[in-house]
Amino acid sequence: AFQPRVFSGVQPTGNLHLGNYLGAIVRFVEMQKTHDCIYCVVDLHAITVWQDPAALRTQIREVTAAFLAAGIDPEAHIVFNQSQVSAHAELAWIFNCVARLGWLNRMTQFKEKAGKDRENASVGLYAYPNLMSADILAYRATHVPVGEDQKQHLELARDTAAKFNHDFADSIAALGLGVGDDGFFPQPEPLIQGPATRVMSLRDGSKKMSKSDPSDNSRINLTDDADAIAQKIRRAKTDPEPLPSELDGLKGRPEADNLVGIYAALIGKPKADVLAEFGGAQFSVFKPALADLAVDRLAPVAGKMRELLADPAHIDAVLGRGAERARAIAAPILADVKDIVGL
Ligand code: ADP
Ligand code: NA
Repeated sequence: AFQPRVFSGVQPTGNLHLGNYLGAIVRFVEMQKTHDCIYCVVDLHAITVWQDPAALRTQIREVTAAFLAAGIDPEAHIVFNQSQVSAHAELAWIFNCVARLGWLNRMTQFKEKAGKDRENASVGLYAYPNLMSADILAYRATHVPVGEDQKQHLELARDTAAKFNHDFADSIAALGLGVGDDGFFPQPEPLIQGPATRVMSLRDGSKKMSKSDPSDNSRINLTDDADAIAQKIRRAKTDPEPLPSELDGLKGRPEADNLVGIYAALIGKPKADVLAEFGGAQFSVFKPALADLAVDRLAPVAGKMRELLADPAHIDAVLGRGAERARAIAAPILADVKDIVGL
């Protein structure tokens, strides 16, 4: 069997928001207790849409600072920047030649991000899922904590791993590079868990909170101050009913469900626990409680991020060390892949 290993990444594309924090980063921190973890600032993914070069450099440090501020330990685990480890791009090319056009044509995130002007989307935006498969499989990672939006990409990574194992089965066997009967690559498992796997926009319960939607000023950013957080929660769209006392009562109430899910994730408990406490309460009571909680939880992270960002050389040193350690794992795996393919 494959050695359990966690890989995940966050794009340095702008303000980190509550969805990234609860859907991904908080989970990354938890996984450290039970797994060897590799966490990546995926800058090659970021440039699939145009980024201002100076801003991109800052954003790479910001995501790194957020990882560290949230409690990721770069000594016990690995924190690095994707473009510093060339195995990602090299393996992505090989996967471009394994994955099928029809698979990529089904990716809903490409359709959303490319929008109506699809002919004008970058080729990179289209091939993005193959780079993501490479990110994970360059380390033969077995577990990938992500938000719900990444589920389809993880399925593609699994299909790509399986097709590689199948297409090159004889070569893998001849070189003795399989792991038991499982082939060369594991089937990476998405870990989409907890009450906030899909944090929705606070002004439109049908859209996810995303940094890629610059027009959404309801988004709670990790670095917002207390007033901004409280105001955004106060203004969040809701319905006129009080909160239900049972989970069933959240059905058909996406805005209420979203706010309860955020509260639950912030206290690290299931939604049912929140309803046990707030069932029957009006939003005029629940929203201020949620705002206080969010400020309590996010302010220390934002403060720590500011401290870290005051010393960019330290952040760069952390990333440099992380890249070396990441390379030490990925380089021999890539060398085996090249042997298997006959390169
Ligand atoms: P974005 O989607 O905001 O551009 P990324 O693509 O960098 O951010 O995603 C980083 C991580 O955050 C991924 O694991 C993704 O699934 C998670 N994530 C992004 N948005 C949300 C959300 N609204 N709710 C929960 N998780 C999210
Ligand atoms: Na995303």
